[in-house]
Parts: sequence; structure tokens; C-alpha cells
Amino acid sequence: MRGSAPVPDIQEIVLTARETRRPDRVIRRLVSEDGATDDLGLLTRLAGHRDLLPVRLLDALAGVRPRRGSPVTVVRRPRPDEDVGPTPRHWRLRGRTATAAHDLWLALVSLQVGEPVCWQTLQDGRLFNDVLPIKGQEHAQTGHSSAATLDYHVEDAFDDDRCDVLALLCLRNRDLTATTVATAGGLHVGTADHELLRRPRFAILPDPEHLKANGTADVSPAWRPVLFGDAQPCLRIDPPFTRTAPGDDASAQAFARLCRQLEGGLVHVRLHPGDLVLIDNYRAVHGREPFTPRYDGTDRWLRKLTLTFDLRRSSGRRRAGSRALSLS
Ligand SMILES: [Fe+2]
Repeated sequence: MRGSAPVPDIQEIVLTARETRRPDRVIRRLVSEDGATDDLGLLTRLAGHRDLLPVRLLDALAGVRPRRGSPVTVVRRPRPDEDVGPTPRHWRLRGRTATAAHDLWLALVSLQVGEPVCWQTLQDGRLFNDVLPIKGQEHAQTGHSSAATLDYHVEDAFDDDRCDVLALLCLRNRDLTATTVATAGGLHVGTADHELLRRPRFAILPDPEHLKANGTADVSPAWRPVLFGDAQPCLRIDPPFTRTAPGDDASAQAFARLCRQLEGGLVHVRLHPGDLVLIDNYRAVHGREPFTPRYDGTDRWLRKLTLTFDLRRSSGRRRAGSRALSLS
């Protein structure tokens, strides 16, 4: 393996006020008619409004599902008018309609690349999840931490039914705390490491959020490869939760070398309110730099939506702990 870090492959689209005027107008109308977003009918109606988005954005998104082009897409836009109110101290305390217009913008863009899915074991099975700091979880390896770095990872790497794409929309980010990303395309993995990393010698434990909701700490993870894919390299990695078998030093060392390379390739994406990022969960990893929480309503606040390319496969393979919504 060569020591150089992978070159990140990120595309960025910056929309103008003129380009967001029409979708914003329609979203405002839908919100005033319905008022909430965790509603299948509302999202289904939204899916029919593809023509609201500028062609240049649709062109950029067209490569996401076939996994052509950049694994990370940042979509920036003028700051939306709608006030979301203070950042709640806990995801359970979010006002039901506070983020409706923002959620629909996130959904409108996300629906161009996949179908939303969610977990019953995360945030009471809500389709849109909140990423915000929670008191007492400052050092957790979850989206509710703050003071600790959220290490780079594949979303829900422990599960075969993980999402294809992770979408994050920024509602508030006063300190411009960075989301970190690294992509698999530029990895330089030597033949010996490549062979080791493609073998099912790595166990990935579920993160604490899933375990808490299941009320169990008793899990026996399956052994999986961390590298796979023929045409292009794909990753399945979550370093803090990954174990190798006792005595399997060769796999552990190959894994450590891969981790160092990804770490060195991390780039900072700083999202402003209204900006969103779509991350291919097979070809990129993501994390977050640390920040100091204030718990005064001004903390960093993102909304998260996870997407699948193949809902039938997802539904067929989903475990008791997950649920999927069909928009077709
Ligand atoms: Fe994540």
C-alpha cells in the first residue's frame, strides 16, 4: 500500500435564488395544506414535482443511482426564509411542523436519487431524523455527540440492509462545524492488503443507538469484508465498532493501514443553513469534527434522510428492527 491519501471526489452545485423560487413556492403551499412531513401522501405528491428542480441539478444527480461520477454531492442554495425556531435539546422535543418546509426541500432533492427508508430502532422510527447535540452524549460515537470527533464511518455499516445514500440538510451551523468525508475511489491498497480486506474477517457491532432502542447489548455480528465491489471499490467500515478475530494480526494490520489512509483523505464540508449533502454510503465515509455545545437553542442542527436504490430488496431483507416506506 502506498502512503498517499485518497483524493476526494466531491461535486458541488450552487443554486441561485431564481432557481429555488419555484420549488420554495410549491413547498410552502404543500406545507400550508398539510402542515407535517412524516406523511406518505405528502411525500408522494412531492415526488411528482421533479420538474421544479433546475435541469443542471437533475443532471448532476443523475449519476448518483448508477454510481457514476462523484460519490459526494453538495447542493448549496440561498438561505431559506422559514424559521425553524431554537435547536431542541433532544430530538423528542422538536416541534412537529417546525422543520416542514426544510424537510420537503431535503425530500425533493433526495427523491431524485432514491427512496427514503428508516429504522424503528432510531428516533422512534421517524422518517426524518435529527442530528443535534444532546447533553450527556458529548463523547458518544453518534450524531448526538459534540465534544468528541465523530469518527468517519459508513452509515449503519453493521447491517447488510444499510442505506445506499445518506442525505443531510443543514438547518443551523453557527460555528460552521465541518462534516468530514473521504471517498474510496482514490484508495491505494496493495495486493496483499486488498486480499485480506476482501475476506469476511471483520465484525462490525451495531452502534449504541440501535442497541438502546432494542434494549439489548447482546449481539453476535456476522463476519464481513470491509472492501468489496468489482468495477469500483466499495467500503463497509466503522472503525470504533470493528473487531478482528484474536490472533488475526494480518487482518488487523491491513485494516489499520486502510484506516490511516481514509483518515488522511478526510476533507471538511462546511454546510450553511439550506445546504445539503448526499453521500454514497458504499463509496464514501463521513464523520464530523468536534465542537463545543451550548445547549441554548443555537447549536448545530441537521436533518437526516436515508435512501435506498431498491426498496423491494430492502423490504425483503429488512430485519425486525427496521421499516421502509414506499413512495411508488
Ligand atoms: Fe453517520
